[in-house]
Amino acid sequence: MLKVASIVGARPQFIKSLPVSIEVRKVCQEVLIHTGQHYDHNMSKIFFEDMGIPEPDYNLEVGSGTHGEQTAQMLTKIEAVLINEKPDIALVYGDTNSTLAGALAASKLHISVAHVEAGLRSFDKRMPEEINRIIADHLSDVLFCPTKTAVDNLRNEGITKGVELVGDVMYDAALLFSGLAEKKSNILQELGLTSKSYLLATIHRSANTDEVENLKALLEAFAESGKTIIFPVHPRTRKVINNAGLHKIIEGTKVRLIDPVGYIDFLALERNAAKILTDSGGVQKEAFFFAIPCITLRDTTEWVETVESGWNVLVHVDKNLILKQIAEFNPEGEPAKLFGDGKAAFYIAQRLTSL
Ligand code: UD1
Ligand code: UDP
Repeated sequence: MLKVASIVGARPQFIKSLPVSIEVRKVCQEVLIHTGQHYDHNMSKIFFEDMGIPEPDYNLEVGSGTHGEQTAQMLTKIEAVLINEKPDIALVYGDTNSTLAGALAASKLHISVAHVEAGLRSFDKRMPEEINRIIADHLSDVLFCPTKTAVDNLRNEGITKGVELVGDVMYDAALLFSGLAEKKSNILQELGLTSKSYLLATIHRSANTDEVENLKALLEAFAESGKTIIFPVHPRTRKVINNAGLHKIIEGTKVRLIDPVGYIDFLALERNAAKILTDSGGVQKEAFFFAIPCITLRDTTEWVETVESGWNVLVHVDKNLILKQIAEFNPEGEPAKLFGDGKAAFYIAQRLTSL
């Protein structure tokens, strides 16, 4: 039986890996490697518990560090596991340092690399994710693209071999879990919220957190909007808010900082939000799946279809523009189905078995 080593490490990768694990385990042997890039309970374990993700076979406990430190440790530790396990294929997801290290370690050992969420580009190399995506794609033998745009991006870089348009595994995950979110999540009651009475926000990109001025401007916009804004705070962002005393900006306002929540609660918060404010890649897509207007706190996006279709608008850190879009952004109609048919994971597993 084909042996697949799946390499994950960060919150969105746990979510992406679940539908794929379900399908891959029907036809292959899977070894699950968690690099330990994310390690707080609400950034890691909660997803394994809530979603029933299989227990990782390895947790490399790499933790946080500079890009060089973190990637180097992952590379060393992933290499040791791959030498020991001798998988036929290494499966990497998305665009984090865990993706880069997994693709690099495997390709140097002549293990085939399959990249889930291949071909995405923001065309902004100041984003660490853009560097990780480009390298992972150029090292990959099979490139599973979520969108037609991703296929085109790869072709423009001369990559046509091994490219498969399968749809988006995050769409698969959203379909698998949104019913459960409806039935099981009590997060609205716990927070005293009613449907559509609040906006939902997330911020964690380096462009918005490394520059304190940018985070300050975003929080000022939230505060000045006068809206109830539920903001589950990523630990990276929490650190900057605490260190720079930024919580003062939202004192006495309806902006509520809460800890990150599990996937089922987060889906419930998304589906019931009036609008979403985010710099997350995954959250932009989920807003689109659920037809929630999305205001993206960046000046580029890889998910161009969401903008072109009118359901997502880029505002970056322009305070006045954010306030204007909070007040006025009201797309109409239904977003088209642009992220596959909810069976991306099935197509991925089928393709792997034909390698
Ligand atoms: C990483 C990915 C990013 C992805 C995001 C998903 C890279 C370069 N970036 O960004 O593409 O969108 O994950 O959430 O791989 N921290 C904790 N506890 C944790 C995890 C992180 O306190 O469990 C804090 C640490 O201070 C750490 C900082 O957050 O230094 C940043 O974590 P890191 O994993 O390096 O990058 P993210 O910003 O999470
Ligand atoms: N998410 C979650 N809890 C939160 C915030 C986000 O479960 O408190 C989920 C969200 O539903 C999406 C994913 O995390 O599936 C997005 O991850 P993140 O924003 O960390 O990373 P990105 O997608 O930008 O790489």
